[in-house]
Amino acid sequence: MTLINGILLCFFFIIVSSKPISFNDPIFGQPEQIHISYGLDPSLMIVTWVTLNEVNDSIVEYGEDDMLSQRATGNVSIFQDDGTEKRREYIHRVVLRDLRPGQRYFYHCGSDVYGWSPLFWFTAMRNDSNFVLRTAVYGDMGKDNAQSMTRLQEETQLGHFDFILHVGDMAYNMDSDNARYGDEFMNAIESIAAYIPYMTCVGNHESNYNFSQYFAKFSMPSSKNTYGDDANFFYSFNVGPAHIIGFSTEFYYYTQYGFDQIANQYEWLEQDLKKANEPENRARQPWIITMAHKPMYCSNNDDDECLNTDGYIYIRTGLPYIQAYGLEKLFAQYGVDLEFWAHEHSYERLWPVYNSTVYNGTSGAYIDPDAPVHIITGSAGCDERHDPFGVPRPWTAYQNTDYGYTRMNVYNASHLYLEQVSDDQGGKVVDNMWLIKSKHGSYSYFK
Ligand SMILES: *[C@@H]1O[C@H](CO)[C@@H](O)[C@H](O)[C@H]1NC(C)=O
Ligand SMILES: *[C@@H]1O[C@H](CO)[C@@H](O)[C@H](O)[C@H]1NC(C)=O
Ligand SMILES: *[C@@H]1O[C@H](CO)[C@@H](O)[C@H](O)[C@H]1NC(C)=O
Ligand SMILES: *[C@@H]1O[C@H](CO)[C@@H](O)[C@H](O)[C@H]1NC(C)=O
Ligand SMILES: *[C@@H]1O[C@H](CO)[C@@H](O)[C@H](O)[C@H]1NC(C)=O
Ligand SMILES: *[C@@H]1O[C@H](CO)[C@@H](O)[C@H](O)[C@H]1NC(C)=O
Ligand SMILES: *[C@@H]1O[C@H](CO)[C@@H](O)[C@H](O)[C@H]1NC(C)=O
Ligand SMILES: [Fe+2]
Repeated sequence: MTLINGILLCFFFIIVSSKPISFNDPIFGQPEQIHISYGLDPSLMIVTWVTLNEVNDSIVEYGEDDMLSQRATGNVSIFQDDGTEKRREYIHRVVLRDLRPGQRYFYHCGSDVYGWSPLFWFTAMRNDSNFVLRTAVYGDMGKDNAQSMTRLQEETQLGHFDFILHVGDMAYNMDSDNARYGDEFMNAIESIAAYIPYMTCVGNHESNYNFSQYFAKFSMPSSKNTYGDDANFFYSFNVGPAHIIGFSTEFYYYTQYGFDQIANQYEWLEQDLKKANEPENRARQPWIITMAHKPMYCSNNDDDECLNTDGYIYIRTGLPYIQAYGLEKLFAQYGVDLEFWAHEHSYERLWPVYNSTVYNGTSGAYIDPDAPVHIITGSAGCDERHDPFGVPRPWTAYQNTDYGYTRMNVYNASHLYLEQVSDDQGGKVVDNMWLIKSKHGSYSYFK
């Protein structure tokens, strides 16, 4: 090395080492944690993302081809985590309007100044029922040990699903490590959630700091113009022949945050079910499907509520003493067909059940059954691993503790198909059922 090169090299090192570079910092203002969700009608799609630095612009460039000739702007809101570092994240929401039902769109999101996400695509919701509605349903998927993640990423990008239902409990927990677990989880699901609507409900693992992580980061269908409101806790949407309702069971257990929310949600559920049952609505969306985290019934042996034969009694029959806001009767009265739950890290299919009694159909358990069908699908994988089963209950049809997720196909007004995929067995289908209904509506004991 010549002297002059040596001097230059020293000089270079001084410059480099005196620069305050932290390699853990994100590139300033880059969009991350990108995910989409359905709006209230097929003309809408909501794009939500995060920047870890202050970026005031929220822009989606999109189009029917990769020229991205359309541009929509939205709003940013500041989310401040309640951990010791009080980290701030910038939540960007853009509502895409006037989409053509069933049309594929390409998009990226970000801002002119601070840069753009990778290119993604989605298909706007169809506005008819002449197609097979296909979805994946699961709960309890963490940032660690997310066993179903790779298969879900693959099947999503191959176009196997129209949307996802994540039945609560994610990241484990979103608020951990000053909300970095939430960031990591949201980045991990981006490879699913940036392509198809990622529809969620809240679980107990989102309860810290008044559910604020969950509240801040999702954008469920809302009638208000500002997404990320109470609709994140209870909402519904129509897609094909299905009316799908997401709600919070956690309001019943984290009452330190207020009882109001239980009452508000109950009132909303009743109104929503009433409306969904107006004859022209029920004719268009005959299937009413609910999802929420804690199950009414379960048979796992490491959960007191399941060991107690009454199950999660607050959800089923209401709060103690006042016996109010129970959901089992409400749902049966309004003829809910199918109820998805999670929380137990396993898969359980139930016979049609109401008030702890099995009400099979007359020519097969699931052919015109006289009660809602419950599915508990909480085995997508998290650091808490499996929950073992105890003795089957009279309403237990099938128990499985493999990691996995549920696929649901709604074929038409009468035929709905479910199957359970096992990750432990390389994607093998370990259970399936057809729910067949010649009519939908209130069950016989209400007539
Ligand atoms: C969907 O169909 C309904 C009924 O035919 C119609 O009123 C509505 O405008 C359509 N929406 C879109 C986005 O095309
Ligand atoms: C964002 O807007 C605020 C308020 O107008 C302003 O103080 C801030 O400098 C802006 N930040 C950036 C990164 O442009
Ligand atoms: C953004 O804010 C404006 C004004 O506050 C509002 O009209 C608009 O609907 C908001 N957009 C979103 C996507 O929330
Ligand atoms: C928790 O958040 C809800 C809004 O989601 C609010 O109405 C309630 O007052 C909050 N409770 C507490 C104790 O902060
Ligand atoms: C549930 O069944 C019990 C008897 O097993 C009965 O006393 C009770 O009234 C029933 N409740 C409802 C809501 O039907
Ligand atoms: C419901 O149907 C299933 C499947 O045929 C059967 O195993 C079960 O015993 C039936 N239960 C009742 C209460 O009829
Ligand atoms: C509904 O879908 C099922 C399953 O594909 C099919 O067997 C049945 O014929 C369909 N019914 C109608 C009315 O199209
Ligand atoms: Fe849970």
